[in-house]
Amino acid sequence: MRTQVAIVGAGPAGLLLSHLLHTRGIDSVVLESRDRSYVERRQRAGLLEQGTADILRDSGVGGRLDREGLVHEGLELRFGGAGHRIPLTELTGRTVTVYAQTEIVKDLIAERLSAGGDLRFESEVVAVDPSAPSVTFRKDGRTHTLDCDVIAGCDGFHGVCRPAVPTLRTFERDYPYGWLGILADVPPSTDELIYCHHERGFALHSLRSPTISRLYLQVPHDEDIARWPDERIWEELSTRFAVDSGWRLKDGQILEKGITPMRSFVAEPMRHDRLFLAGDAAHIVPPTGAKGLNLAVSDVTMLAEALVEMAEIGSEALLDSYSDNCLKRAWRAEHFSYWMTTLLHTDPSENAFGRRLRLSHLDYVVSSRAAATTLAENYVGFPL
Ligand code: FAD
Ligand code: DHB
Repeated sequence: MRTQVAIVGAGPAGLLLSHLLHTRGIDSVVLESRDRSYVERRQRAGLLEQGTADILRDSGVGGRLDREGLVHEGLELRFGGAGHRIPLTELTGRTVTVYAQTEIVKDLIAERLSAGGDLRFESEVVAVDPSAPSVTFRKDGRTHTLDCDVIAGCDGFHGVCRPAVPTLRTFERDYPYGWLGILADVPPSTDELIYCHHERGFALHSLRSPTISRLYLQVPHDEDIARWPDERIWEELSTRFAVDSGWRLKDGQILEKGITPMRSFVAEPMRHDRLFLAGDAAHIVPPTGAKGLNLAVSDVTMLAEALVEMAEIGSEALLDSYSDNCLKRAWRAEHFSYWMTTLLHTDPSENAFGRRLRLSHLDYVVSSRAAATTLAENYVGFPL
């Protein structure tokens, strides 16, 4: 069995890479350990930078995104019982779009299948050989080998590709908290996302549609979800989001809930021989700046361009600079996500001095155009 590009993982990175390569005449096979329904339902990201939305649109998978995605021109920072709007578009000329990762994954799978793409679910890659490029996978109890020109390691944080880079250096930071996320059957209580700092911890009000809300609460990193019955979640959200203006958080039926740990992680380099890492396989950011999915999209967009250059004119110049180019962008997102996270969360080990500094910093961000612009330009994302 042979293909040009063997793609490990059918998350947003692997699926989009396969789609972009197909539009430029390059064959790929996508191998995914889980089944299709699991991959399509996994609740995760929801906020797309303008550049991410443009890439989906320009490559022909933006139909539903344009119809159902919610374009936002600002966000709210809420602390000290008051909200402060950051006018993202006024400050940067760019917008962000709320459109769930589940929907992007569904759109990409449908597009690849209708174009005759080779997507293999329930196919677990057990080994990759970056030098005589091939991947070994298990499907239906049997072991198969797929030979290829290049391997794209899009297999997320727990995948098998990153350990195949022998010169790997990793950089990481853990946080003493995680996010409890809920999906709720209730119209959003806000038109724009609210990032809220409260002395009891961070809270985020996001949305999925005019009738479905997505909310997050800071909880201790080792928190047990069993300690959070639905009533306690709504009560805590209401306490953290409370403002003096009389605004109220609407509650409703909780459709799903789960706890996500938070970490910052970067692996360097993102290439070894014919193996290229992309997305969460190479870097993880804490979710506060909404950068993870967007970084996965920018990695595979650069990888697709580099593979097209190799196929069309035989040059490997872009492949050779792939790791450096992606890492530059990844480190900017790492800094921004770390900054947003530490600015908005409470740290159990912090003293009163640290708390006062945070409040001063928040005041500065909402009262200085220069500081608000720093937040805004990182949040909407830099052009590729
Ligand atoms: P993944 O989505 O992890 O996909 C990897 C795939 O590889 C998986 O399907 C996995 O099953 C498969 N796989 C693994 N090992 C193997 C193997 N051995 N063989 C075959 N297949 C394998 N990002 C944003 O940009 N904006 C947001 O608003 C945002 N919010 C978030 C909120 C939460 C609660 C969380 C958890 C994350 C959020 N993120 C956000 C991050 C974003 O979801 C990830 O960065 C994104 O999923 C990365 O995509 P990926 O394709 O690189 O990896
Ligand atoms: C969502 C998640 C984020 O991490 C974020 O910063 C904004 C929105 C979301 O899931 O909608």
